[in-house]
Formats: sequence, structure tokens, C-alpha cells
Amino acid sequence: MTLVKIYSENNPNKVETIEDFASIQKTLAFVNIKIERWQTQTGLANNAEADDILEAYDQDIQRIMRNHGFSAVDVISMHGCSNLSKEDLNKSRDRFLDEHKHSDDEVRFFIDGQGLFCIHEAGKVIQILCKAGDFISVPANTKHWFDMGANPDFKCIRFFGEETGWVANYTGDNISSSFPKLNDILSPVA
Ligand SMILES: [Fe+2]
Repeated sequence: MTLVKIYSENNPNKVETIEDFASIQKTLAFVNIKIERWQTQTGLANNAEADDILEAYDQDIQRIMRNHGFSAVDVISMHGCSNLSKEDLNKSRDRFLDEHKHSDDEVRFFIDGQGLFCIHEAGKVIQILCKAGDFISVPANTKHWFDMGANPDFKCIRFFGEETGWVANYTGDNISSSFPKLNDILSPVA
């Protein structure tokens, strides 16, 4: 289930959890994060090709491309990652685990699996566990990090504008190391 955890930026131990989707939307709107739930295309096979996925979601994709001025989309799929070595997997994960910003909006739609977006704004750290059917838009220049987990399992539609727009500009703040990771959120220690 989609959920949000809110911490003070100075205290990873005190947390407020929100599970109701309407409350999640309202809370995230305060930091200009947009989250929607799209109608999932149930006719798509689990191993559907990218072209079939993009066609199935074409209406939503066109709307988002128009609204954000994006010029390209793709589908990224990581599932236990058959085709990547553990080392390459760790590299992919680590690339987005440190706090960074982009000059473009970071916009994703989760077709399946899950990922953890962590937003650092307004003195808070807000962790958003995205699941299948979730669309999320993180505005340009928002401090954030993303955890795909130790065993990545997700398929996403990604949206792109200019080539430089999605380059990660690291803030140099190692705050992300103090906060729970995706695996902690999925299997909390009792
Ligand atoms: Fe990012």
C-alpha cells in the first residue's frame, strides 16, 4: 500500500505515518509534490514490451508530457535483476541514494513493484512508498533521494525533458544515511 512517513529533518526516530490516499495527496501538496493514482491497465501481461506499455497508458502520458513540457518517455524495469551483477545493481541503487536535485521535474508512474522517494524540504524528511498505480511528480530543484531497495523490484514509466534535466546534482548532505531505507519500510523491525 502507498504510504507516507514524515520526520523532522533532525530526528529519524520520531515519525508520523499517513496511509489514507486523500490525506497523502493533501500532505504532499504542501511541498509541491503531486501524487495521483492512475487506472492500471489490467490487460497488460507482466512481461509486456515497453511499446505496449506506452500505448496502453498513452492518454495519461500525453497529458503529462503536455503539462510538463517533456519530450520523451521510456520504461525502466528492474526485477531482482536477472541481467545485472550484484555490483552493478548496487551501483544503480547508490547513484540515487545520496541527496540530490535535478533541473527538471522527476516524474514517474509505477506499473508494478515499489520504490521509496525521500523528499527533504521545509525542515522535514518525507518518505513516500510508491506502489503499482502511483504517479508521482517531484518538482525541479527539490532536494530528494530515491531507494530502489537491496533487491529492486519495479517497473516505471519515466518522463524526460532536456538531456541535462535529469542529471543528479548532489547537495553533499549525507542526511539520507540517517533515515530508513526501502527495506526498513517494507519489513519494519518489531
Ligand atoms: Fe532524483
